[in-house]
Amino acid sequence: MVEVSVVNLLQEPPGRLGLAPMEGVIDAHTRDLLTRQSGFDWTVTEFVRVVDARLPPRVFHKHCPELLHPAVATPGGVPVHLQLLGSDPKALAANARQALSLGVTSLDLNFGCPAKLVNRHDGGASLLRDPARVHAVVAAVHEAVGHAIPVTAKLRLGFADRRLAVNCALAAEAGGARQLVVHARTRNEGYRPPAHWEWIGRIRARLSIPVVANGDIWSLEDYWRARTLSGCRDVMIGRGALADPWLAPRIRHWQLTGERLPPTSWATRAEVLTRFAALQRSTLAERVVSSLIKQWLSHMRARDPEAARRFERLKRISNLDALLTGLAA
Ligand SMILES: Cc1cc2nc3c(=O)[nH]c(=O)nc-3n(C[C@H](O)[C@H](O)[C@H](O)COP(=O)(O)O)c2cc1C
Repeated sequence: MVEVSVVNLLQEPPGRLGLAPMEGVIDAHTRDLLTRQSGFDWTVTEFVRVVDARLPPRVFHKHCPELLHPAVATPGGVPVHLQLLGSDPKALAANARQALSLGVTSLDLNFGCPAKLVNRHDGGASLLRDPARVHAVVAAVHEAVGHAIPVTAKLRLGFADRRLAVNCALAAEAGGARQLVVHARTRNEGYRPPAHWEWIGRIRARLSIPVVANGDIWSLEDYWRARTLSGCRDVMIGRGALADPWLAPRIRHWQLTGERLPPTSWATRAEVLTRFAALQRSTLAERVVSSLIKQWLSHMRARDPEAARRFERLKRISNLDALLTGLAA
């Protein structure tokens, strides 16, 4: 394990923390809850899937309700970037213009999605098989929005292997991307550990734009190891922030003070889940809210024995009141 010390802290400037996009998991309510404490510097929406047509405003507002507020930020003031997924440069450009007209302040392009359905239609990580296509997509979107807003990209290390990792990143940069997030695995590696943080370092060494390290940051130690092995100042965190909603505040606190916050208590976790239920209940049916709570509890259980015990006890309950009582008891 890498020793996390104040000495390391003093040698390095604090880095930025991004909240990762997670389709079907991190929606506007989750972004809101995870950015109420200081920690995250930016967040990204679930992907908006672009096939051919220009999508109506309601699709953008559904993925990014924060567009209805002038700052396009969470209630805690953290900027929200909108993510597009697709493979047709023209269609992506048309939707980028549409997003711009609706007030988007930053556009992210998805080159990482491993889903079979998405890849079969040539979207997400399947574009990593051909750097020229990565370039064409980024360039088309960049040209569509001019210099009005930044275009960024999120990549994996490759599709089946890592041979094109650096070329795809260079292609995105040449197309006009202002920043890359790299999830340190190939598409075929799915979410299997380990994350190859040192490979992000190889990419970073060849690019002049900021490269953000992503994948398997579950703790303060992982955070520092990912930074050390990738050489990146900035990281993006997805599942780790669900497993421990205090992970980003914990990292930020440590960056600023060199002190470790105590582990996140069950009471704090239960409070987050209860607030989550109340937010979701304003728009969704009780049954759906119950399964969303169990989904988040399931993310917590891998890292917290009390969450694991509660999950086992509550996993078959679909009545929302009973579930909330079970969380609080
Ligand atoms: C359920 C799920 C949904 C995801 N949805 C998206 C998405 O919409 N866009 C995207 O770029 N990445 C998506 N990802 C990938 C994450 O953003 C992130 O790159 C990956 O989970 C690795 O980071 P982590 O170990 O911190 O979770 C998703 C991952 C998961 C597990």
